[in-house]
Amino acid sequence: MTSYSLRNASPAKSRADAVVVGVVTGPSGPTVAPGGQDVAKAYGRKLAPLLSALGVTGKAGETVKVPTSGTISSPMLVLVGLGSDPDHLAVRRAAGNAARSVTNAASVAVALPADTPELVRAAAEGYALGAYSFTTYKASGPSKSPGEVVVLSPVARKKDAIAAFEEGQVIAGAVARTRDLVNTPPNDLRPPSFADAIADIVKDRGRGGKVTIQVLDETQLAELGCGGLLGVGSASDAPPRLVTLTYTPKGAKRHLALVGKGITFDSGGLSIKPAASMHEMKSDMAGAAAVLNATFAIADLGLPLQVTTYAALAENMLGGSAMRPGDVITIHGGTTVEVLNTDAEGRLVLADALVLATEQKPDAILDVATLTGAMVVALGDKVSGVMGGDDVVADVLYAARTAREDFWPMPIPEQMSERIHTTKIADLSQHDWIRWGGGLFAAAFLREFTAGLPWAHLDIAGPSFNSGGPAGHVSSGGTGVAVSTLVEFARAFAEEK
Ligand code: BES
Ligand code: MN
Ligand code: ZN
Repeated sequence: MTSYSLRNASPAKSRADAVVVGVVTGPSGPTVAPGGQDVAKAYGRKLAPLLSALGVTGKAGETVKVPTSGTISSPMLVLVGLGSDPDHLAVRRAAGNAARSVTNAASVAVALPADTPELVRAAAEGYALGAYSFTTYKASGPSKSPGEVVVLSPVARKKDAIAAFEEGQVIAGAVARTRDLVNTPPNDLRPPSFADAIADIVKDRGRGGKVTIQVLDETQLAELGCGGLLGVGSASDAPPRLVTLTYTPKGAKRHLALVGKGITFDSGGLSIKPAASMHEMKSDMAGAAAVLNATFAIADLGLPLQVTTYAALAENMLGGSAMRPGDVITIHGGTTVEVLNTDAEGRLVLADALVLATEQKPDAILDVATLTGAMVVALGDKVSGVMGGDDVVADVLYAARTAREDFWPMPIPEQMSERIHTTKIADLSQHDWIRWGGGLFAAAFLREFTAGLPWAHLDIAGPSFNSGGPAGHVSSGGTGVAVSTLVEFARAFAEEK
C-alpha cells in the first residue's frame, strides 16, 4: 500500500527516489510549470539545452525521465507535459501519466502546480488513479508501487487544501474499487458473489462505517414481484440479487436514491450478442459498482444527506429457462412489459429497482447504467449521456463539471413516450425495432417507473470501459466513471432546500 502525504517543501531538496515536475508548452519553448521552479533554478542555464536535447516539448501526455547526477537531491527527475494551460484537468492527467512512468521508486515527490486546494486534489487523485493496475490474475503479482508519495504544495498547511487532498484520496479509493469490480472476470463476479463482496466491504467498515446493507435473494425478489430481475436472471444458475445500502447521517434534511444496473455478464440472452466483443460485457455492472462505491465515498466524507442505493444484480444468459422475446413480465408494483429483445435487459432490472426506490419517497433519484450501444454511437466512448427532468439533469451536469467528467444532456422526445406504448398486449413495450435514438427510448421506458419524482438517468455505456490503452488518470479496462460526479451531486444536493 502506498501512503500519501501533503507537504510544503522544495522539490530540489527532496530526497525521494523520483521527483515529478510539470512542463508547459509556450511560444518560446517549454518551461517548467509552477511547483517545479526550485528544480529549474538548480539546473539554471543548463535547463533549456537539456530540455531541447531530450526533445521535451511540454505537450500533454509526454513523460521523460532524467537522471539528475546530483543537480538536485533526488536521483531522478520525471518531466511530465501539461500542455499550454496547467489547469485541474491537465494536472490530474499529468499526475496519472507520471504515476505510470515511475516503475521502480520507493518514494516519489510530486511537484506539479498545486497552489490551490483544487490543484492539490487533482495532483493527489491523478497520481493515485494513474498508479492503478489490476493484477489479481497475474502470476507476477501486483506491480511495484512506491511506498510513499508526497504531494508538494505551497498551501500544504491550509485547512481547505488538506481537506481537498483527503477528498482526492477518498474519491481515488472509490474509483479504484469500482474498477476492480468491473475488471473482475464474469466467472468470478456473479450476482451472489457481487453481493457478498459488497457485504464484506460493509462488514470491514464496521459500525463506524455508517453504511448498512440489505441483500434480497431470488426468493425474496419473487415475494416482492420483481419480475424484471427474475426474468433477466432466469437462465443463469447464479440467481439475481438486489443490494440496498443505506446511509442516514444525523440531521440529514434531504434524501437521495441511487440506482445502478448490475448485469454481471450480458450475453444478450436468446437475442444473443455477436461474439467479437461479448467478453467486454463483463463490464455491464459498472453502474451498480459506481453507485455502491459512491455511497461509501459519500459516507467517508460525512456528507449531510440521506442516501439509499439500489444495485440490481443479474446475469443475462441463455438456456431452457431463459426469458423469451414475446414474454410478458411484471415489474415490482404491477406494470406489465412485453419483452421483444432479451438484449435490452438493463431497463428491466432497473425498473424493479426504480419502483423500490420510489416507495421510499426520496427527494431525487439518479440511475446509472451501461444501458445502450446507441448512446455510444451518439456520444462516443468518452462522454456519458444524461436524460430526465430538466432540474436534475442540470444538477448532474453541474456536478460533472465540478468532478471534471464528461456528461452531455440528451432529450426524451415525446415520440419515445408514444413508442413505449405500442404493445398490443401489455402496459409497456420494452423495445421496438426502430434503431434510431435507442438510448432515448430506453430513458422514456425508465421514466415510467419513477412515479414523477425528480429523476435523471446516466447512460455510461461508452466511458465505463476503456478497451484501449491507459491515458492520464484513466486506466485500461474499467474506468470508475460517474463515481466522482455522484459524490459532487450529493454534496450540492445536501445543501439545497
Ligand atoms: N449492455 C448493453 C449496452 C452496451 C453496449 C453497453 C455497448 C456497453 C457497450 C445493453 O444491455 C444492450 O445490449 N443494449 C442493446 C439494446 C437494444 C437491443 C435495444 C443495444 O444497445 O444494442
Ligand atoms: Mn443487453
Ligand atoms: Zn446490458
